[in-house]
Amino acid sequence: MFDVKDTIAQAIHKQLPELSREQIYDMLEYPPNPEMGDIALPCFKMSKTLRKPPVQIAHELASNISNVEFIDKLEPVSGYLNFFFNKSLFVEQTLKRILEEQERYGSQPIGQGKTIVIDYSAPNIAKPFHVGHLRSTVIGNSLRKIFEFMGYRCIGINHLGDWGTQFGKLIVAYKLWGNKDEVEAHGIKELLRLYVKFHEEAENDPKLEDEARDWFARMEKGDSEALELWQWFKDISLKEFQKVYDLLDVHFDSYAGESFYNDKMDAVIEELRKKNLLKESEGALIVDLEKYGMPPCMILKKDGSSLYATRDIAAAIYRKKVYDFHKCIYVTGAAQSLHFQQWFKVIELMGYEWAKDLVHVPFGLVSLGGEKLSTRKGKVVLLEDILSEAIKKTLEIIESKNPDMENKEEVARYVGVGAVIFSDLYSNRIKDVSFSWDEALNFDGETGPYVQYTHARCCSVIRKAPEHDNCFNPALLVTKEEYQLCKTLYQFPEKVMIALNQLEPSVITRYLVDLAQDFNRFYHEHPILVEDQQLRTARLALVKATRITLANGLKLIGLKPLERV
Ligand code: ARG
Repeated sequence: MFDVKDTIAQAIHKQLPELSREQIYDMLEYPPNPEMGDIALPCFKMSKTLRKPPVQIAHELASNISNVEFIDKLEPVSGYLNFFFNKSLFVEQTLKRILEEQERYGSQPIGQGKTIVIDYSAPNIAKPFHVGHLRSTVIGNSLRKIFEFMGYRCIGINHLGDWGTQFGKLIVAYKLWGNKDEVEAHGIKELLRLYVKFHEEAENDPKLEDEARDWFARMEKGDSEALELWQWFKDISLKEFQKVYDLLDVHFDSYAGESFYNDKMDAVIEELRKKNLLKESEGALIVDLEKYGMPPCMILKKDGSSLYATRDIAAAIYRKKVYDFHKCIYVTGAAQSLHFQQWFKVIELMGYEWAKDLVHVPFGLVSLGGEKLSTRKGKVVLLEDILSEAIKKTLEIIESKNPDMENKEEVARYVGVGAVIFSDLYSNRIKDVSFSWDEALNFDGETGPYVQYTHARCCSVIRKAPEHDNCFNPALLVTKEEYQLCKTLYQFPEKVMIALNQLEPSVITRYLVDLAQDFNRFYHEHPILVEDQQLRTARLALVKATRITLANGLKLIGLKPLERV
């Protein structure tokens, strides 16, 4: 497999055996402008280990390294060692690899035989699916695609918030201010209205909170009236969540939510007791984590009800048994970081060596016009509304630009929903994002529609050139724009690897924008379907390679590459 960066790393490693090939590979950089070469080694990074000044290291390496495949020239410049590729060889090898590997381009089979459990989305039943859960859903879904692409078996779990005191509140509110017809007619919106009303009323009437606790206690004891209402709320919610998952094209292997662990909790508590980890504190049972600088992990409340953490512990033990995971990944807001650290520690204290394989993937807060979203106050943007608005706006754009397009509705759906997903995956996941309609639906600039459009543009060029000749003369593809496009194409496999290691889909999202921009620069400078057959075949090879790479990248972030936009 063609990988010039690795070839360079190997050549340097021969001269510097103190550093491993992998270490050197990680030090190599892509210089910001072509005069500084195609790949550079910043020698100050190894100056300490080698006890030599960077300038000297660069010069020595430059005089000792010779005859590296694909390299025409190397130059030491102020502590950097710059490598210049043999352009036409580089172009030839890069495009050949892409055209051969097709939809596998970018993947490496590092995950074979390993299972990754990904816990994502996990909205709370009877509450609306809001933009906060969108982040978990699209980040988790993208991570899943990335792992699958690299050969892992993935199990997607929707750990629904389907148990807890909020159901007691909802039952009280429903009995006081709700009725069956309204709930059936308006679904989650009515449940949300009741939930908000409960909190408004409870401010002046604290008795309501007691009643809610009572109802939840009845649920835990198996009271049939309470459970019937709970099941009904759950069915209504799931039906609406499903609409959103269908729009997003997101799927799960399991919907085992919090309630699934109701009958698995006693065993966990027993095990904790046997292992001498439980302590009583004001009537509740806790695991003391003071030694580890954390507040205690609550296992059982004074009234005997279990907690979020108890369920997570039971779930992890269950998942290890059932799926024998290599890693179990949890995608939630950063506000839950402490929760995960605490119960990961409890698993470790229980003596499970696989505690090290539990990974929390936090993401930043979603705010709305600068204010934190809160279901209790009814301050939420419903995801379903965002998605349908996005589809509507996309359809309007298509109607005005391309009214005769076939399957307008379908295209509007993929592009509109894709725009929302793309904007969510564009920033580093840990960054707080302020949701804005204008940004999510901006169809120009660094957005999903722009990348989709570029992919469709490639398809349209290829459609107009029916010849299937993949033999091209790479020496014809060395203008500035063509060469730059090749260099960006070459970096895709590395980007996928980084995204996987950092659990960071935005690496792919940003890469796709760069690639689309490089392609469009090429496209505007160089006509493709020219008379000259040789030139035409060569440029077409570049278009085909771009199309493949854009498509592979779009799929990794959960977007469908479209032939026409
Ligand atoms: N339902 C939770 C929430 O909305 C997220 C659950 C995440 N998964 C887990 N195993 N704790 O915040």
